Amino acid sequence: MILLGVNIDHCATLRQARYRQAGLTTGGNVEPDPVTFALLCERAGADCITVHLREDQRHIQERDVWRLRESCGTRLNLEMACTPAMTEFALRLKPDSVCLVPESREEITTEGGLDVVKNRKKVQRVTDAMNAARINTSLFIDADEHQIALSAKIGAPWIELHTGAYANAYHGPHRVSELKQLSRGATQAHELGLIVNAGHGINYVNIAEVRAIPHLHELNIGHSIVSRALFSGIEEAVREMKARMNAGQ
Ligand code: PXP
Repeated sequence: MILLGVNIDHCATLRQARYRQAGLTTGGNVEPDPVTFALLCERAGADCITVHLREDQRHIQERDVWRLRESCGTRLNLEMACTPAMTEFALRLKPDSVCLVPESREEITTEGGLDVVKNRKKVQRVTDAMNAARINTSLFIDADEHQIALSAKIGAPWIELHTGAYANAYHGPHRVSELKQLSRGATQAHELGLIVNAGHGINYVNIAEVRAIPHLHELNIGHSIVSRALFSGIEEAVREMKARMNAGQ
């Protein structure tokens, strides 16, 4: 069984589109509430709730994360940049896992994998701090052999393979080669003893191919599930994705 982490950031995106100025994250007419959304995801079978607390707090707010920490019954996975402020926050919050991602203010969403080779010292520092606090660290990286090898050396127990390039190539000529690259990366990581997760751009169609990548432990999926929820409701959206992830199991 491949596990499902639901990234609920875009529930907060919808709230912030209207209530950014309100200064409130819930209550009164402030809606939708990402915590209620998360609990419905869990009720429908989500194995983990993922949020990305960005430096500019453009969607998920700090208060959301604290409320999730108190309310989630599964696991809370905090995506974060490799900064001292976020490290300090994570050590106070104690999520079940952190996923270290690159972050620049301009990008609309996370656009490329974390460059572990270029940022080795920073990544090592945060991973060491999380390991000492018994918080699992996942490194969100491209399926590149150098990035994977160094991730294992740094001592992060998990990686999350960036599936965005594959998702973008889905309707073009590089789809098969991108998928093969992900499979090679997953095999290398597994042989190095890493737990292999994957995420970004996974949807109800490409999941039929993504699920065939070997050694997958968990997929983190956000935009597609939140989009589907507008039509079917979030519980049906989660159930449908889980069924497609594990079809025939
Ligand atoms: N995993 C990571 C590390 C991400 O940054 C994101 C996007 O925020 C996702 C998974 C989910 O991507 P999507 O919203 O495209 O499903």
